[in-house]
Amino acid sequence: MFSQISLLLLLLLCAYTFHRSTCDTNLQLLCNEKDRYALQIFKLGVVNHSNMLPSWSTEQDCCAWKGVHCDNTTGRVTRLDLHQQYLEGEINLSLFQIQFLNYLDLSLNGFTTLSAPSPTNITFSNVHFLDLSFNEDLHFDNLNWLNQLSSLKYLNLSQINLQNETNWLQSMTLHPSLIELRLASCHLTNISPSMKYANFSSLLTLDLSGNHFVSELPYWLFNITTISNIDLSFNLLQGPIPKSLLSLRNLECLKLNDNEINGSIPEWLGQHEQLQYLGLSENLFQGSIPSSIGNVSSLVELGISSNLLSGNLPTSLGQLFNLKSLSIGGESLSGVLHENHFSNLSNLEELVLRASFSFDLASNWTPPFQLKGITLSNANLGPKFPEWIYTQHSLEYLEVPNSNISSVKGDFFWRFVANITQLNLSKNTISADLTNITLKSTILFMDHNYFTGGLPHISANVIYLDLSHNSFYGPISPLFCHKLGKESSLDYLDISSNFLTAGIPDCWEYWKGLSFLFMQNNKLTGGVPQSMASFIDIIILDLSNNSLSGKFLLDLSNLTNLEYINLKGNNLCGDVPTRMPRGMEVMLLGSNQLEGNIPPQLCNLSSLIQLDLSHNKLSGPMPPCFSDIPSLAGAQRTTHYPFQINLYTKGQELEYRDYGLLRTLDLSCNNLSGEIPPQVFSLVQLQTLNLSRNHLTGKISRDIGSMKNLESLDLSSNKLFGEIPTSISSLSFLSFLNLSNNEFTGQIPPGTQLMTFNASSYAENPGLCGTPLPITCTKGSGNVDGSKQHGGSNDDAFETGSLYLGMGVGFAVGFWGLWGSLFLNRTWRQTYTRFLNHVADQIYVFVVVKCNNLRGTR
Ligand SMILES: *[C@@H]1O[C@H](CO)[C@@H](O)[C@H](O)[C@H]1NC(C)=O
Ligand SMILES: *[C@@H]1O[C@H](CO)[C@@H](O)[C@H](O)[C@H]1NC(C)=O
Ligand SMILES: *[C@@H]1O[C@H](CO)[C@@H](O)[C@H](O)[C@H]1NC(C)=O
Ligand SMILES: *[C@@H]1O[C@H](CO)[C@@H](O)[C@H](O)[C@H]1NC(C)=O
Ligand SMILES: *[C@@H]1O[C@H](CO)[C@@H](O)[C@H](O)[C@H]1NC(C)=O
Ligand SMILES: *[C@@H]1O[C@H](CO)[C@@H](O)[C@H](O)[C@H]1NC(C)=O
Ligand SMILES: *[C@@H]1O[C@H](CO)[C@@H](O)[C@H](O)[C@H]1NC(C)=O
Ligand SMILES: *[C@@H]1O[C@H](CO)[C@@H](O)[C@H](O)[C@H]1NC(C)=O
Ligand SMILES: *[C@@H]1O[C@H](CO)[C@@H](O)[C@H](O)[C@H]1NC(C)=O
Ligand SMILES: *[C@@H]1O[C@H](CO)[C@@H](O)[C@H](O)[C@H]1NC(C)=O
Ligand SMILES: *[C@@H]1O[C@H](CO)[C@@H](O)[C@H](O)[C@H]1NC(C)=O
Repeated sequence: MFSQISLLLLLLLCAYTFHRSTCDTNLQLLCNEKDRYALQIFKLGVVNHSNMLPSWSTEQDCCAWKGVHCDNTTGRVTRLDLHQQYLEGEINLSLFQIQFLNYLDLSLNGFTTLSAPSPTNITFSNVHFLDLSFNEDLHFDNLNWLNQLSSLKYLNLSQINLQNETNWLQSMTLHPSLIELRLASCHLTNISPSMKYANFSSLLTLDLSGNHFVSELPYWLFNITTISNIDLSFNLLQGPIPKSLLSLRNLECLKLNDNEINGSIPEWLGQHEQLQYLGLSENLFQGSIPSSIGNVSSLVELGISSNLLSGNLPTSLGQLFNLKSLSIGGESLSGVLHENHFSNLSNLEELVLRASFSFDLASNWTPPFQLKGITLSNANLGPKFPEWIYTQHSLEYLEVPNSNISSVKGDFFWRFVANITQLNLSKNTISADLTNITLKSTILFMDHNYFTGGLPHISANVIYLDLSHNSFYGPISPLFCHKLGKESSLDYLDISSNFLTAGIPDCWEYWKGLSFLFMQNNKLTGGVPQSMASFIDIIILDLSNNSLSGKFLLDLSNLTNLEYINLKGNNLCGDVPTRMPRGMEVMLLGSNQLEGNIPPQLCNLSSLIQLDLSHNKLSGPMPPCFSDIPSLAGAQRTTHYPFQINLYTKGQELEYRDYGLLRTLDLSCNNLSGEIPPQVFSLVQLQTLNLSRNHLTGKISRDIGSMKNLESLDLSSNKLFGEIPTSISSLSFLSFLNLSNNEFTGQIPPGTQLMTFNASSYAENPGLCGTPLPITCTKGSGNVDGSKQHGGSNDDAFETGSLYLGMGVGFAVGFWGLWGSLFLNRTWRQTYTRFLNHVADQIYVFVVVKCNNLRGTR
């Protein structure tokens, strides 16, 4: 204390006595020793990878250290702001000993631990702003250390794992002076729905989005009469909106989107005169949209899409002259929209209507707004592209998928859309000839139309282009070989399911950045050029169902990102390619003319989860080394790709959204001979095994009982013999079985689910008897295995097995799914976020990407 007072005196003296500049030089030496000591202790915990704090070592005066702010009269440290500085290691809360510190921001770093002082040596701190958010590896088991912060006003712990802190709300109520509280994505589960009262007397902002709350909206919320911003989006909140919400008279922002809230959208919401942001999308609201919402003239943003709402839009919405963003949608919404639905919306920038509305607008209607974005999906816009859209000159995105549009105004249209960053015309019936068109938008969804002519040219800034399922014909060279002059940004190209012909040209000069290339289901001919090895970024390459021929000589081993290659349904000959990157996961080479043996090098592909060599001319034995592939024999896989692929399994072609979920080995319809190596029957992760139509011999190993994930087993039309092991009956997911046309003998294990398959599963095995075959077993044909060991159904396996499949099919790129995959795979994340640039949660994705860039530097 003494030193402080004397310091202050000195300063005053200084101010009076000396020339200003002399005084300043003195000031620079005045960093307080205690403050400096506490900062140095903090620095000891920081891991110094990227040397982000060099000034902390070189400068004498701690007030000149990066991120440190001192009071310019006392020289005491008041703020420490080190957000987004690539820092890692430990946060030592000895920082709270800095007596005048009131602002501490360590957000957007990579800190992993927090060390709090022992409870016996608590010092009370003046910190009123604390932001530790987005240190994604940080987790706290309790929040007791917060007790030191008796004057806390702003607290942000978003994206920190607080899963084990079940009393978080109680901890927060110890800080009744809080003004802003952000605990988004903290893995919180308990929102204390029945707690009556939380004594936040000054709270303005509460952000609890992205947690795991499963309950009704909590009582205590409606008692915080000061509150103006509530964000509870992305939880699992249920029940209707209670009328007590009306007591929150200062409410300006209410985000309840992405929950399971039901009931009707209350009429009385119209009494919230201050409301500017209302987010109710992605819930289970029913009934119609109340016209009273048109009374909330302060509304700037209104989101009520993806609910169970029905009926038409109230015309009162057209009175919301402050509205900038309107997003409405739902399958049962319908009706006709007139000009007066939009009459006063002069500030509208974003219009999103996902519902089967029709439009009754004069052909020369001039809307009162200039939009930045239009999404009109499932609407009845056609058959002509709506004239009024041509009056919008500031469009950044235009999405009109599935809207019954069949014609556009030729060149005029393409010139109009050239300035639009993102264009979505999918699933219409537009039949324009694009031969002489150059596409210029960054992101283009034009699939499922009747576009025809030759492939269009594209400019160098196009990143994502989907032209699949159209009627393009002629060679692919106009697209690839046309002179661009510079490296293209193209990352994703889908020209599948057209009528494209001729060979694959050698023009890859500008396209080396491609990561996803889909050219399947066309009529491409000729060989696969070796120059394709220059696609160093490629992740997915699909050339299936074309007429490609010749030997496949492409050396893929340098394409280290390649994970998926599909060459099925061509006329490729020669040996099975072995020059593959080690990370290859899916290799589909079926229905070609490949010859020779199955090369054992395939077993070096340690991530392989799907191998299809079916319908070729392969001969020789099966290599026993398949059991060395960890991804088939044991390891779990965690990355998911939200792509759709078709796979032959369970005796039919099935559609899978996420190939990462299915592990298959299909060697059917070849000339393979010799015994099936017994190791094959121990591939625990395998879900589909198809070895049918070969010349394989031997018995089914009893180990087959360990293939807990097996769902489809086809060994038909071989020369297999011996008895069917009873252990097959412990394969609880097995739903397709074909053992027909072999030389199996003995009794089909009785009393097991093996009897529930059709007789055709066992047909043409002369020595086989028992249900479901019509041949009863005579004495002597009994099964040596006995029937005692069956029935070992395994609940665990049930959870991880077939439910997974269900998930795969229903896998939607929901928010969490997206987030999950963003975190798991860097390449995919980058690609994906580039074209998700206007999803509602842009900010999150943005922040996530930032955090991960950070990670990349570690
Ligand atoms: C941090 O690392 C840099 C080089 O990476 C080194 O020069 C510097 O002395 C280190 N600082 C501390 C305090 O360890
Ligand atoms: C000290 O800070 C105050 C406000 O923070 C500012 O107005 C004043 O100019 C500063 N004085 C000096 C000498 O920098
Ligand atoms: C944190 O700082 C204190 C000094 O205030 C020190 O005693 C303690 O060891 C530090 N914690 C760790 C884990 O380094
Ligand atoms: C408590 O903190 C003070 C500094 O504020 C320090 O001098 C003392 O050693 C600490 N005591 C313990 C038990 O950590
Ligand atoms: C954390 O919350 C505070 C207070 O609401 C806010 O000022 C800050 O920007 C947030 N931090 C991040 C990284 O979003
Ligand atoms: C929560 O507690 C469980 C059991 O003690 C522990 O296994 C888990 O790692 C903890 N999680 C976090 C994020 O601290
Ligand atoms: C707020 O509530 C907590 C307990 O929930 C209590 O400990 C604290 O004293 C209360 N503060 C005020 C100002 O009422
Ligand atoms: C707040 O909670 C208290 C205690 O339960 C109650 O008496 C009061 O009516 C509530 N106030 C409001 C506005 O709901
Ligand atoms: C596209 O943008 C350019 C420059 O920004 C402008 O000159 C041109 O008129 C715009 N075209 C259309 C059709 O809006
Ligand atoms: C494309 O341009 C060429 C040459 O200008 C012309 O002959 C041809 O008719 C055009 N095709 C279409 C479909 O517009
Ligand atoms: C693969 O990369 C190596 C080293 O960069 C190079 O020498 C080799 O020619 C490349 N192979 C092919 C087929 O491109």
